[in-house]
Amino acid sequence: MGGRLNLITGAFSYSGKYVAQKLLERGEQVRTLTGHSDRPNPLGKAVEVFPFRFDSMPELTKAFAGVEIFYNTYYVRVAYGKVGYELAYENNKKLISAAKDAGVRRIVNISITGPSPDSPFPYFRHKWLIDRAVIESGMSYAIIRPTVIFGKEDILINNIAWILRRFPVFAVPGKGDYKIQPVFVEDQAELMIEAAGLSENLIWDAAGPEIFTFMELVKLIRSKIKSPCLAILPAPADLVFLAGKIMNPLLGDVVLTRDEIYGLMANLLYSKEPARCKTRLSDWLEQNREWVGKDYASELKRHYQ
Ligand SMILES: NC(=O)c1ccc[n+]([C@@H]2O[C@H](COP(=O)([O-])OP(=O)(O)OC[C@H]3O[C@@H](n4cnc5c(N)ncnc54)[C@H](OP(=O)(O)O)[C@@H]3O)[C@@H](O)[C@H]2O)c1
Repeated sequence: MGGRLNLITGAFSYSGKYVAQKLLERGEQVRTLTGHSDRPNPLGKAVEVFPFRFDSMPELTKAFAGVEIFYNTYYVRVAYGKVGYELAYENNKKLISAAKDAGVRRIVNISITGPSPDSPFPYFRHKWLIDRAVIESGMSYAIIRPTVIFGKEDILINNIAWILRRFPVFAVPGKGDYKIQPVFVEDQAELMIEAAGLSENLIWDAAGPEIFTFMELVKLIRSKIKSPCLAILPAPADLVFLAGKIMNPLLGDVVLTRDEIYGLMANLLYSKEPARCKTRLSDWLEQNREWVGKDYASELKRHYQ
């Protein structure tokens, strides 16, 4: 097989899988770094697999040999067990340094909308630190900042639908008047590949064409999936967080993080740039209404089993 060699973290996980698929369709070569090298490989032998070796810089650097573009998705949604945002940041610095030492030409780094060094939210603060490490690496870079990603393997929007299918009441944190602008996972993958093909350093938000208030979003999902939920009610944010905590042991998961609730309420999950991605969540929900939220999507099952 010929074509440019790309390394993607998490090619068997969520967003990285779509980047890998699209690059393979274009005839490019794909290598992945993953914490689940033993998992069935949905992309077949076309993807070369290396395990994350954060304990050994020489081993980590070997994984980047011959790589031209590094698509970095590595981060943790939930600080759990030994892996928190601080360690995820340290590991990102190792990935960036290994890529640089191996001679990678360009890095496409997935960040998030609204990262800031002063953010009160550790998730967003450490994202800013990772972006800075990318910028200071000396490699050519594209930083892509998605809002909230939806698609087949999505967790957050799927689990809103899951709750709406099962409970008579849905509690929205605060008034539900803050904004959210979801982006389709395949659009984001296309945007990342487009950004990889350019030569200038850039920072782009990745956001879809629809901006909702959170209340509107929950009502849209309820109507699309024909949920029997009777009421969507504003509730104190701390109470919603507590309800999530009560559900955690029942579901064996971390349903919601504090940063997700308060980051959303701080209007961090929408973009102030013109939308770069075209797929409308409302259309996608219409097309996928039969299955969205039928099963609960577990973050911990995905990453710790
Ligand atoms: N999903 C969203 O709505 C959203 C919104 C904004 C920004 N982002 C950012 O977009 C990037 C990709 O997100 P995604 O949802 O597509 O992530 P993902 O595919 O679930 O994971 C991306 C990579 O991080 C690794 N990883 C994730 N959680 C981990 C954990 N707890 N312990 C060890 N490794 C872990 C995965 O390891 P494996 O290869 O072993 O699976 C994979 O290589 C992330 O940087 C995320 O912060 C996501």
